[in-house]
Amino acid sequence: MDYFNYRDGMLHAEDVPLAAIAERYGTPCYVYSRATIERHWRAFDAAFAGKPHLVCYAVKANSNLAVLNILARLGSGFDIVSVGELERVLAAGGDPAKIVFSGVGKREDELERALEVGIRCFNVEVPGELDRLNRLAGALGVKAPISLRVNPDVDALTHPYISTGLRENKFGVDVGEALIQYRRAADMPHLQVLGIDCHIGSQLTSVTPFLDALDRILLLADALKEHGIGLHHIDLGGGLGIRYREEQPPEPSEYASALLQRLQQTNYEILIEPGRAIIGNAGVLVTRVEYLKSNQDKNFAIVDAAMNDLVRPALYDAWQEIVPVRQLSGADVRTYDIVGPVCETGDFLGIGRELALSEGVLLTIRSAGAYGFSMSSNYNSRPRPAEVMVDGLRTHLIRERETTAMLFRGEHVLD
Ligand code: LLP
Repeated sequence: MDYFNYRDGMLHAEDVPLAAIAERYGTPCYVYSRATIERHWRAFDAAFAGKPHLVCYAVKANSNLAVLNILARLGSGFDIVSVGELERVLAAGGDPAKIVFSGVGKREDELERALEVGIRCFNVEVPGELDRLNRLAGALGVKAPISLRVNPDVDALTHPYISTGLRENKFGVDVGEALIQYRRAADMPHLQVLGIDCHIGSQLTSVTPFLDALDRILLLADALKEHGIGLHHIDLGGGLGIRYREEQPPEPSEYASALLQRLQQTNYEILIEPGRAIIGNAGVLVTRVEYLKSNQDKNFAIVDAAMNDLVRPALYDAWQEIVPVRQLSGADVRTYDIVGPVCETGDFLGIGRELALSEGVLLTIRSAGAYGFSMSSNYNSRPRPAEVMVDGLRTHLIRERETTAMLFRGEHVLD
């Protein structure tokens, strides 16, 4: 459930009309709802309440400092994949002892910085990373806490670009090789084996793949125990889907209770890394229609947001709901392709949408909180949008709209 609702025909974020936000901050503009973020995070936290657990929000979904700070205040942990994300979490007041570090290509400087600040766990994805971490931790005189990200070879039944738990994907250590790598890790003097980790994909709409992955992980954990390697935690990654259109993903409570049933006889601490399910439906992108044009076959609404602001439709053919900020009754409804100003045919936000439009009208692209701004770019030298957080009746500008001067800051012409 989210806090974007119509009141008297006007779409509101919590208690603030989106038209007022567009007026004040301009368009395109990302708008988030604090109450929605908190509600979603708490739903995960409460769902695992029966067991020691830590909800580690996946920073890549939306890494704005205000979002991270809201979650840090709730006591959230964080799943990061780069030193950039690490610095963001620290700048937002996140607790380093609640950070897990995932990713297949962690550089030395990234590992060093994470060792220096004392993160909770490195989710190691490559055998060579164990050697690298052992060496760096030794040089710093610390022990590196690690888990191995195991690739359980499970089909997540999601878009191939965001499916990560199949043997053919680049992620994690093959489940068949994990025991050997764990034994190697256990013998390294500057590593401390803490847990086991997996993440099988994103936007999953059924619990079955999660349970299949968990079964394989538990088998491996048993085998490790027989070899004298006891684990403290199991990290089940993120991936729970949201409703964009007709999907009916399990609620966090259903997802958790299915997993907890399997975990009854164990006393591992459970870590999870949800991103989209916390922030996806807590954000929208507000855009304005610049022009309407029609040819023999089609009507186009050219809006001021584009694929550089929200790339999911272009990249994954993702469907996100597009609704008017102001509901008009009795207006002329037509079928439009909602497209941006970027010079690519793939620059669309929605295809074949039934809407009543005129130039200047405001539209809202829903479910844009996750992998929206965080995947935005400056393609076509377009400054990125402003980001606004609504909290009840209040609005906070949490990222200023970029200016054109910012676009070429740091660039130099030849002498
Ligand atoms: N943990 C790890 C190790 C991950 O790789 C990911 C996402 C997550 C957690 C969080 O997954 P979530 O709960 O958000 O599904 N750009 C794509 C999604 C890419 C997801 C990458 N990994 C999209 O817009 O659909």
